[in-house]
Amino acid sequence: MVTRKLAVLAATAVAALALAACGSGGNTASSSTSAAATSAAAESTAAGSTAAESGAADAGGELPAVDPAVLKDAVIGFAQVGSESGWRAANTDNIKATAEKYGVDLQFTSAEGEQAKQISSIKTFITQGVDLIAFSPVVETGWDAVLEEAKAAGIPVVLTDRAVDSDPSLYKTFIGSDFIKEGEKAATWAKGEFADAAEVNMVVLEGTTGSAPANDRATGWANILGSDPKFKTLASQTGDFTRDGGKKVMEGFLATYPNIDLVYAHNDDMGLGAIEAIEAAGKVPGKDIKIVTVDAVKAGMEALSAGKINFIVECSPLLGEQLFQAASGVLSDQEIPARVITIEGTFDQEQATAALPDRLY
Ligand code: AHR
Repeated sequence: MVTRKLAVLAATAVAALALAACGSGGNTASSSTSAAATSAAAESTAAGSTAAESGAADAGGELPAVDPAVLKDAVIGFAQVGSESGWRAANTDNIKATAEKYGVDLQFTSAEGEQAKQISSIKTFITQGVDLIAFSPVVETGWDAVLEEAKAAGIPVVLTDRAVDSDPSLYKTFIGSDFIKEGEKAATWAKGEFADAAEVNMVVLEGTTGSAPANDRATGWANILGSDPKFKTLASQTGDFTRDGGKKVMEGFLATYPNIDLVYAHNDDMGLGAIEAIEAAGKVPGKDIKIVTVDAVKAGMEALSAGKINFIVECSPLLGEQLFQAASGVLSDQEIPARVITIEGTFDQEQATAALPDRLY
């Protein structure tokens, strides 16, 4: 059974890799890390998978290819988180462009970071009787009632990017990154980078409180370094995934702690804000204070290439193709995997410099 699950999930991962490679225009770093990422996807199932991941394997296989006839003129409601980051902008562009490619009638709303607005959008989609609802949940909890409503109305739901804590029977699939793995990759880099240090004083710029990426990236970090007494967390506070938020919180940290060695920012935007604060405080980002972030959007990669960020864990926003494959499958009554994990790599300075010319977002 375990062998079958590994094989099936690896197949899903390989399919996702093909899409990621298309999306990234042959991005070298993504390609070079593909094998590791593929096995990482399989590993997460082997090592105590979530219910959704097990379901992915049990559902049997990969996302089907898009049937253009199914998607043409299909009405799909997409409730986006907001416009907090470069990642979000790239995700929105990719979903809109992919919808246009397939002739989908995309009803797009943005919640501007408010769960109540997102719930209200989903309710409107239900009233309109759209063919399918997709959304990237602002936070992880509080979705049961609206998901029950969609189910009662017979409207299938697809989650992209972020998870919810609702019963998996309330949605068809969840397509997105393994955020715990991302946190583990960031911490693994930090462990190696500070291998010779006696003590590491770190601060954390957290993502939006209660969101899956903020929760899981913290968990992933703790999985690797939580019991290492050498790493001391001086302070940890939300910057809400925004550049401004990261800058303001970092200014506060710098004013209170003169001895910061490391910033763990849950996304590039907050890392970029931290760079501004560090420079304004007369210190050199990347040298006096090391920075590790998640995302690998172009602005983050430029800062990494310039040596101001030290390491980035990739989180791909290019989820449009997989979303519409899932929609095509669901709308033509096909079985689809309950969990699709995005294939992602990591970048150091040299890899960022090499990848930048082809970076699409
Ligand atoms: O959910 C994905 C996260 O949300 C990205 O890492 C962050 O940049 C965005 O705001």
